[in-house]
Amino acid sequence: MHVLSVSSLKGGVGKTTVALGLASAAFAQGLKTLVVDLDPQCDATTGLGAVGEFKTTVASVLKNPKHNVVSASIVSSTWGKVGGGSVDVMVGSPKSIHHDTPHPTLRQTWKLEEALHLVETIYDLVIIDTPPSINALTRTAWVASDRVLVVTEPGIFSVVAADRAIRALEEVRMAITKRVRPLGILINRHRPASKEQDFRVQELNEMFPGLLIPNYLEERAHLQQTQGAARPIHTWPGEGAVEIANFFTELLARAFVAFEEPNEEVTAEKPKEKRRFFRRHKRGSKRPEILTIETAIEQLGEIVETTESQSADVSAEPEISTSIAAMPSIETDWTEPSWQDDELAAKQQEVSTNTGSWNFKLEIEKPEEEKN
Ligand SMILES: Nc1ncnc2c1ncn2[C@@H]1O[C@H](COP(=O)(O)OP(=O)(O)O)[C@@H](O)[C@H]1O
Ligand SMILES: [Mg+2]
Repeated sequence: MHVLSVSSLKGGVGKTTVALGLASAAFAQGLKTLVVDLDPQCDATTGLGAVGEFKTTVASVLKNPKHNVVSASIVSSTWGKVGGGSVDVMVGSPKSIHHDTPHPTLRQTWKLEEALHLVETIYDLVIIDTPPSINALTRTAWVASDRVLVVTEPGIFSVVAADRAIRALEEVRMAITKRVRPLGILINRHRPASKEQDFRVQELNEMFPGLLIPNYLEERAHLQQTQGAARPIHTWPGEGAVEIANFFTELLARAFVAFEEPNEEVTAEKPKEKRRFFRRHKRGSKRPEILTIETAIEQLGEIVETTESQSADVSAEPEISTSIAAMPSIETDWTEPSWQDDELAAKQQEVSTNTGSWNFKLEIEKPEEEKN
């Protein structure tokens, strides 16, 4: 299973359009695909024909990423009526806005990863449609992703937003997980004859050498029509639609090439926080590539230190088994979001990361012994 976020820190540039275009390409290829609608506007959910009252949504998942909640939040899209593919959606909710805090704890940023870990063997591809900000929801999406596609328009404000997005992604990479990498910057609504646009494209090329995706998506009415009809562009009639469909097929192929590129930083990384490392940190093409605690200890040749094993009498139990027993369970019992828990928040230590002009704060939970 591979995970791709489609992001932009600016609204209306085409995130949802691109996410659904990619989902349509995956649909046409018969890939088992899940679209996660993290945007409180829920446009991806609507575009996939999932309309109605949903009790369990992505907001419930962010609160409690347990198996029953995750499966109840996922429904089939109506695309199945017009073709043989399979696209499901983890339904969006306006309530997810409550999870979009500007200063999420580390634990919050891993919640979607917790959830996706449970569907690792079910899907080939997960596409996450993110809201237009760098608050908790987008970071939560990036932490769960292998690649991030930044969508922009060739206008001055969008160029600035793309710059911020790439910097923010680098911040997340440095502070939380090296697994996630940019797929590139995609220019949407390109008009070949515009001088101003040519200038901005040139500017983006200079700012991000190698990151600009060489094919641009042009302004096309078909895109809006297929969205209105909640249909995949790959099933829409006409030559214009075929052209756009081919564009997304190529873009998806580019994503899959990128997924297969080895991530040397992750391979070389000595995890700072080992518990996180045991999750899908090393997810790859061979699925499911989940490191169990036992194999991780074997591979790393390291013993996971915990409060209990540190204080235990060395002559008592063999060290490894003590450590495994003392490790927090992978099936962590998540509780209410901790920003609703003032007592816990008070115990948390704030760490500011600043590796560029963009900076945000991370709250790191203190080790157990400091809490008491
Ligand atoms: N290349 C395009 N051609 C025509 N319409 C587009 C194109 N890209 C986006 N749109 C339209 O612009 C509007 C905003 O796009 P959307 O994908 O919802 O942006 P975002 O998700 O970034 O807010 C939608 O109505 C969409 O149909
Ligand atoms: Mg959108």
